[in-house]
Amino acid sequence: MIEFNNVSKKYDSADSYALKDINIKIEKGEFVFVVGSSGAGKSTFLKLMMREEVASSGCITVDDINLNTIKKRDIPKFRRRLGIVFQDFRLIPNMTVFDNVAFAMRVIGTNEKKIRRRVPYVLSLMGLNEKARKLPKELSGGEQQRVALARALANNADIIIADEPTGNVDPQMSYEIVDMLMRLNEAGTTVIMVTHEHSLVRCFDKRVIILDKGNVVADGGTLVREAATSHINAASEIANEYVVPPDEDYTAYIGETEAVEVAVEVPNEVQAEEITVEGGEN
Ligand SMILES: Nc1ncnc2c1ncn2[C@@H]1O[C@H](COP(=O)(O)OP(=O)(O)OP(=O)(O)O)[C@@H](O)[C@H]1O
Ligand SMILES: [Mg+2]
Repeated sequence: MIEFNNVSKKYDSADSYALKDINIKIEKGEFVFVVGSSGAGKSTFLKLMMREEVASSGCITVDDINLNTIKKRDIPKFRRRLGIVFQDFRLIPNMTVFDNVAFAMRVIGTNEKKIRRRVPYVLSLMGLNEKARKLPKELSGGEQQRVALARALANNADIIIADEPTGNVDPQMSYEIVDMLMRLNEAGTTVIMVTHEHSLVRCFDKRVIILDKGNVVADGGTLVREAATSHINAASEIANEYVVPPDEDYTAYIGETEAVEVAVEVPNEVQAEEITVEGGEN
């Protein structure tokens, strides 16, 4: 469980609070969208829960680990439980796509045999097998984002924390990425995902936390999802209609965790005649 108790965050160089008196509980196994306009505090919220930033006041715990008092030397071990997608990707520029993903496994001491098996697998989930030998600078923004996602999936983390993991990909890929995260979630992974895309929030019936100027202005299900659309940055315009993701065996995405069978959900807005089923890369 992730718990924020009266958490505020003010950056040293800032005049105002990035987050103010936040009280949030996220249970193990939940899927949560975090929405809000630019500067609302979304990335700060995620950075606090991964202990990239420290709260100015209040208390944050993740599975009974107090992030206020955790020792510096214990932070890497804590982060092993997390699969993190940063808003700015943070790929290592002089490492290939393969090595960027492998690196996440090497730092936790995974043996090379497992790495050679797992890395191509997670790259294939993101449609990136062909790019394995490329450097990040040789990829498009959307491809780099997918490498960041592949890296977050590499270690079968208990918690996926993703800051706009679909910000640079087209609507179909966005849908597929969230669908894949849903399936991981159904197998027990907690997922916290920031998005600007109201279509995604509408498509998937999940908890939504709306942040506005550092405050939680709403937190809940269906009604909040409707309200969320007005808080989501209109600048990030994408198509409202989604095509249906490829009808493939999504249980494969779950990898070595427990596999579950889940039907592919067709979003309500999509009419039968509009459905296109395509496989492979975007
Ligand atoms: N390192 C920092 N130093 C000073 N101020 C910061 C820092 N990071 C963020 N802020 C400020 O804190 C507030 C919240 O920023 P945050 O990055 O959490 O917003 P966000 O909701 O993720 O926005 P976006 O949608 O643009 O990514 C903003 O006013 C921002 O300018
Ligand atoms: Mg942000």
